[in-house]
Amino acid sequence: MVQIFKMLKRNTREQEEQLRFPTLGEAIPASYKILERYPLNAPFAYATIAQEPSSSTKIYFLDEVPLNPIEASVYTHLLNILENELTVPRDKINPREYFMQQGKRVLIKYKRKVSLTSWNKILYYAERDLVGFGILDGLMRDPNIEDISLDGVGRPVFVFHRRYESLATNIKLKEEESVDNLITRLCHMSGKHISTAYPIIQGTLPGGHRLSATYKREISPNGGTFTIRKFREDPITIVDMLNLNVLNHTLAAYAWLLMENRATAVVVGTTGSGKTTLLNALLTLTRMNSKLITIEEVREINIAHSNWVALTSRPIYYTGGERSTEVGLFDLVKVAMRMRPDILVVGEVRGEEAYVLFQAIGTGHGGLCTLHADDAASAIQRLTSKPMDVAPSFIPFLDLVFVIKRITLPSQSSSKIIRRIVSVEEVINVGNYLKMFEWDPISDTFTAQPFKKSIKLARLSRDLGLSIEELEDEIRRRSLVLKWVQQKNIRNYKELSLILEDYASSPNSMFSKISAELPKMDVEIEAEVF
Ligand SMILES: Nc1ncnc2c1ncn2[C@@H]1O[C@H](COP(=O)(O)OP(=O)(O)O)[C@@H](O)[C@H]1O
Ligand SMILES: [Mg+2]
Repeated sequence: MVQIFKMLKRNTREQEEQLRFPTLGEAIPASYKILERYPLNAPFAYATIAQEPSSSTKIYFLDEVPLNPIEASVYTHLLNILENELTVPRDKINPREYFMQQGKRVLIKYKRKVSLTSWNKILYYAERDLVGFGILDGLMRDPNIEDISLDGVGRPVFVFHRRYESLATNIKLKEEESVDNLITRLCHMSGKHISTAYPIIQGTLPGGHRLSATYKREISPNGGTFTIRKFREDPITIVDMLNLNVLNHTLAAYAWLLMENRATAVVVGTTGSGKTTLLNALLTLTRMNSKLITIEEVREINIAHSNWVALTSRPIYYTGGERSTEVGLFDLVKVAMRMRPDILVVGEVRGEEAYVLFQAIGTGHGGLCTLHADDAASAIQRLTSKPMDVAPSFIPFLDLVFVIKRITLPSQSSSKIIRRIVSVEEVINVGNYLKMFEWDPISDTFTAQPFKKSIKLARLSRDLGLSIEELEDEIRRRSLVLKWVQQKNIRNYKELSLILEDYASSPNSMFSKISAELPKMDVEIEAEVF
């Protein structure tokens, strides 16, 4: 805490000289066209996306209520006093409450008066700077922002926005010292220490956000850099995907039936196509009582299962001259196997961890992963070559390959991005795949093979003692359940998991309840043609 106060004090003095609150971004020039504006922390902070008049360049403006010179000076003054007077146990205090109580006391003691509005503004900055992410706080609160990065001194902070992709922001740190302070602060928040001796840090910020940072000009000639990859609290679910037509109800119902029965699957696509997101959505379709272990380099997966262990790899780092050991995906997969998971998940396979994952799959564990490839054939090709080196005899244990694509549609003003599951293929063995679903780009619909052809449903019918016709009926029923869930707008992963689990544990009572409601809803009860 004292450390943070010291840093803030340095910053705010600079700003005081400028008689303008220092960390505030540039204001929006009047000539810019405003495309969108939404609150981040109302009424103090808003996001505005605006377009430059002469080009199509869009800029993200973090629009914060400014402090007038008096408020800024009160704020600085309070920080100074609090820094000197801070005596309470530091890890126990709630900085907002502390600032509020102590601040009032200090104001009375020093006979300074501010209006309620001013006081609220001061508290906003206190909270932002003491418990929040400082000048990045607004960006961290924006659920549309996926990552935040800085490439060096004097350059704008960049964000990756869900709707506009990469955007420069109006936040620019012109002083080398401000960049160093911000990076040092972020590293502190993730419990790591960055210095000239250890200039590269990987850490996890409060809230599970992943931080990578480099210090000063040690290895980055333009000055310190950082990238924050934000953890998505509210993952995209299968219902969101149905709403966006990433897949249709029959495909979702087929996937649900198989995932519930512990099918193994690989999600395939290019970077940013939505593999991890689809993997997450598929995990929600598995039974809630399954023991799940997920292994990732950066934590992205977020599910509602209670018996879930999330492991992340760790690079080498240094503390007080000690060199830590690296813990890679391969080590984690080995550890996970000792924990006896029902379903083992590797966020993205690239190397020898694939080999262990497939051994697990071959010995009857459920398993899922994502893989960078274009289709089932190239995915299996990659899996069976170095460095993954999965033995071809393990390939038939893999049930499904989902291929997802991110497609940019040209449109008049700005391009539109859509994602589609372009195929679902059942794996028979190396070189032999059965395309059960395929996306047709012309009509933007999905076509399916007759379920009688499905190898995986045939196996399930033997395992469950049900005929293929009964499984077909089950898929139709589930497709209706999903339509019902969609109509009810149950999209949140926690709520959705509960509903799906309800259905899995007592399908008949749940289905009769749903069927009673369906006629009142705008749901097409006719099952789709298989
Ligand atoms: N169906 C979708 N609709 C909207 N956004 C999506 C969808 N799937 C993924 N995204 C977004 O696209 C970005 C990349 O997705 P991700 O699953 O991480 O891709 P990959 O794992 O293929 O690199 C993420 O920020 C995610 O939120
Ligand atoms: Mg991914």
